Amino acid sequence: MPEQRKVLLSATDENVRYAVDVLRAGGLVAFPTETVYGLGADALDAAAVLKIFEAKHRPTFDPLILHAESAARAFEVCSEVPDLARTLAERFWPGPLTLVLPKTSNVPDVATSGLPTVAVRVPSHPVAQALLQGLGRPIAAPSANVFGYTSPTTARAVMDDLGQRVDVVLDDGPCPIGVESTVLRIEGKRAFLLRPGGVTLEELGRYVAVETVASVRPAAPESPGQLDAHYAPWTPLYFYEEGASGLDAAAASIVREARASGRARPRLGAIFFGRRSGSEELYDAVENLSASGDLREAATRLFEVVRKLDKMNLDVLVAAAVPEEGIGSAINDRLRRASRRGAPPSEGPIVPA
Ligand code: TXA
Ligand code: MG
Repeated sequence: MPEQRKVLLSATDENVRYAVDVLRAGGLVAFPTETVYGLGADALDAAAVLKIFEAKHRPTFDPLILHAESAARAFEVCSEVPDLARTLAERFWPGPLTLVLPKTSNVPDVATSGLPTVAVRVPSHPVAQALLQGLGRPIAAPSANVFGYTSPTTARAVMDDLGQRVDVVLDDGPCPIGVESTVLRIEGKRAFLLRPGGVTLEELGRYVAVETVASVRPAAPESPGQLDAHYAPWTPLYFYEEGASGLDAAAASIVREARASGRARPRLGAIFFGRRSGSEELYDAVENLSASGDLREAATRLFEVVRKLDKMNLDVLVAAAVPEEGIGSAINDRLRRASRRGAPPSEGPIVPA
């Protein structure tokens, strides 16, 4: 391992070179991508990759994404590359799209959880690119959070979760997109959506009719992005599918319910989107993902807002669905999964519990 420095470093050229040395020596480097911060290791070094799972407390059945500097490099770890994959790569790389393809044998099994496929993506973020070009090998990197918790979109959030367990965190400010990449499995001419994300279904629709995988609940899901409880704060979060209109009523019912069972009035936090004219006094904390109703802005703020509210000692968080269009599908997907914790109130059309 290179000479020890501080963990949190700004992403200067010199610090990026140091981070490359750390990766080469089998260490862990957290770094910004355009979507979220990743927790990286040399993807072809099985022992280094295993450290990612240990640091995140990630179950080893959950495979990682391999990041590469170019499509040519990404496809070097794939044993078959259908034309459709090449077309999507040409259009969307570098960028927030991950393709799942058959893997070559030099990809360690620990990176793919023993699956015959590998997830690959070419990130556009200049710091991610500099690391990849410096290392000259693919970097395996999941989101740099403790498994199951909200993904990090700032270096500070990475430090909160993993500061003690990584060698370097490269800080280059907040991530410009804010939700993870879209994950597609490609089979010949067909594309299956494993996780909505930064590239929207509308954009993909110009190139391929994306099919959705039935949301069955296998013991080892194909993409743990599909796990029910994921992206979740510690504070129970209720997700209101029908949007903002009924959120106040739902919140009021949570308060009534507590009162009826003789409990103290719960401290409520709300996550809104767009213009609103509700009763703010219901809530102890209110965050608006985008007052102007801009879904891109909402995506960039989502995980920081959840993390902020989660630190405020609130009893319950409530969130309303954003419009199910563009990157809104990814926002709703993350909120829906974040809500699978805690007990439901006894009334109100609130999902889930
Ligand atoms: O934007 C992103 O994708 C970020 C940045 C750091 O690149 N990474 C990320 O990684 O979100 P992670 O590990 O949090 O999510 C990767 C998703 C998981 O849902 C995983 O199950 C799925 O991709 N995945 C990886 N390899 C797969 C494979 N061979 N087959 C099916 N799903 C796979
Ligand atoms: Mg993740």
